[in-house]
Amino acid sequence: MAMKRLLVTGGCGFIGSHFVRLMLEREAWRVINLDKLTYAGNLENLRGIDEGEHYRFVRGDIGDRALVDDLYKEERPTAVVNFAAESHVDRSILDSAPFFQTNTIGVQVLLEGGRKYGVERFLQVSTDEVYGDAESREPCDEEYRLAPSSPYAASKAAADLLSLSYKRTYGLPVLIARSCNNYGPFQFPEKLIPLMIRNSMLRKDLPVYGDGMQRREWIYVGDCVDAIRRVLERGDDGAIYNVSTEEEYTNLDVIHLLCELMAGEASMDAASLLKSMQFVADRPGHDRRYATRATKIREKLIWNPLVTFEEGIRKTIRWYLENHEWVERVTSGEYRNYYDAVYVRAWG
Ligand code: NAD
Ligand code: TYD
Repeated sequence: MAMKRLLVTGGCGFIGSHFVRLMLEREAWRVINLDKLTYAGNLENLRGIDEGEHYRFVRGDIGDRALVDDLYKEERPTAVVNFAAESHVDRSILDSAPFFQTNTIGVQVLLEGGRKYGVERFLQVSTDEVYGDAESREPCDEEYRLAPSSPYAASKAAADLLSLSYKRTYGLPVLIARSCNNYGPFQFPEKLIPLMIRNSMLRKDLPVYGDGMQRREWIYVGDCVDAIRRVLERGDDGAIYNVSTEEEYTNLDVIHLLCELMAGEASMDAASLLKSMQFVADRPGHDRRYATRATKIREKLIWNPLVTFEEGIRKTIRWYLENHEWVERVTSGEYRNYYDAVYVRAWG
């Protein structure tokens, strides 16, 4: 039987690299990874995977129409999974332009290719942030209205709507997975968990936005990519699936757990780590809470997250401690400018 061909975009990023590895474990797929290698994309995240019959890497932008068309024409992918995105809310507040360019226009370019070359599955990787702040409501299912708060979330919500319009108008077999907050190895240290781990390693302050009582649902990245694989292989055409542990933690809960486990893993003092918490200027437009129900994926696709929060955090801390050179390398470039803009100049 001919091998199925999977175009993965953003496969050198955090979640995308875990997904590429997962799909290559089974020899059923040829994976073509299209990635621009922005500050968040790193070839090292896929170290050990060689190009050949099962894997090809293409450096390029999902918004580059000629390149994307040529790639579809040449590889004729059976399916597409789009992870490529500008993914950090804080950066979208500093400059939203690249967010709409990649997260919205880029998706339009990919959808067009999917339509023209007749892909059998087009999975758009989305986020629970499209539902907006859940401060004063119950956890929502997939039918809930979209009310994004940040430019990042708005650019992702636009992409969801565009994808669904391609299903309705052209019959493109679109699927959408909306995940809660991921954490785990290879996450760029600008997001809460890896930033706190890195700062603890460097004995720097642990910056808490506002009062630290914002709540998020957290999922270990291995559980998330397993969910995405199930949606790709068994999801219903045109369906949306929330992907969530349904377990909420405040940011202060997360930081306390991190300090406690970090102290154990790195022979540090938990009390002095906790003392380095620093309450800083809040993120503008900061959502207080995200809360979703993942009943549909649990019941229809028989998926359940397997890694508990404590176990996942412990695994993550160990990985960062063992890979401090990776952390150093990815934070050696423009990271300092970004860090200063948010934490030193307080969004200036
Ligand atoms: P990431 O920032 O770690 O990786 C993004 C990847 O996309 C990088 O490899 C980058 O080089 C690539 N990329 C960016 N712009 C591109 C372009 N124009 N063309 C081609 N490649 C481009 O992101 P992540 O955390 O792995 O998130 C992956 C996807 O999952 C995103 O779509 C994000 O919105 C979504 N998501 C993330 C989370 C989370 O907690 N991290 C939660 C829900 C949904
Ligand atoms: P983040 O990891 O950026 O994910 P998102 O905003 O997409 O949920 O942030 C998670 C939570 O942690 C969010 O409420 C913002 C907060 N936060 C801090 O308090 N300090 C920080 O330095 C960072 C990066 C985030």
